[in-house]
Amino acid sequence: MASFTLAASSTFAGAKFDTRRVTAPRSARRASVVVNAGPKRVMIAGAPASGKGTQCELIVEKYGLVHISAGDLLRAAVAAGTPAGNEAKEYMDRGDLVPDSCVVSMVVDALNVPDAKEKGWLLDGYPRSASQADAIAKEGIEPDTFLLLDVPDDVLIERVVGRRLDPETGKIYHMTFSPPPADIVDRLTQRSDDTEEKAKNRLAVHASNVEAVVGKYTGKVKNLNGDRAKTEVFDDVCGIIDAM
Ligand code: AP5
Repeated sequence: MASFTLAASSTFAGAKFDTRRVTAPRSARRASVVVNAGPKRVMIAGAPASGKGTQCELIVEKYGLVHISAGDLLRAAVAAGTPAGNEAKEYMDRGDLVPDSCVVSMVVDALNVPDAKEKGWLLDGYPRSASQADAIAKEGIEPDTFLLLDVPDDVLIERVVGRRLDPETGKIYHMTFSPPPADIVDRLTQRSDDTEEKAKNRLAVHASNVEAVVGKYTGKVKNLNGDRAKTEVFDDVCGIIDAM
């Protein structure tokens, strides 16, 4: 008779994902193998311009996870003029955290779409406070791993002021570190909060919250030196995701 060994299982918003090891009958047994590792659930955090979005592009391309960026959701709400977007705008303009009442339900809704449940998700820039972590934990939403990018403040400021976005492809460039092709330079845009002054406030906000967030994911936090070439950082990210 075949015997089944339950090595691990995980629950996300009511759905049960298999991470079972199946032990075949002795006659057919070669080894204990993972039959379905289940969708991967990754959080990525770090100070402004630490490279979250840049690593997310690479992760999505390689692993096909659904990328959910709290900042992108908020910017879309601001652009659409929704009530939450209108409320969020003044906080974002200052570089402060927007109230939980604006951001939590946006993120929970995005995580609950079938695509994210089936393919796995990559949550970028959320949670940014203990209360935000508690809010999704209440919904049964937990990551398998929490990636934390570490970059010195002076490097972050340089990255912020040189960042440009391509509105057509969504790609992120840096005028020095990741220069855009010459033929698209004219269409690139700069975020309104990407000034040195606003970046300093965003860094301070990050510094005052990060420990409380990290404390919510003890045992899952992977610290990464983000002050290296993006491909070097990504090699380490892949090592962590592949081992999940
Ligand atoms: P959000 O959009 O999340 O901004 P952020 O956290 O400040 O992070 P960034 O998007 O600035 O940077 P990144 O880490 O993605 O870096 P990137 O890869 O682009 O949030 C914006 C605002 O929304 C917040 O201030 C807040 O008001 C609000 N908000 C968002 N989430 C919220 C929440 N949960 N609760 C409340 N409020 C919330 O890289 C930056 C630059 O560096 C690029 O030019 C890139 O090319 C370059 N670069 C990247 N990696 C490297 C590398 N390895 N080497 C050299 N250059 C690199």
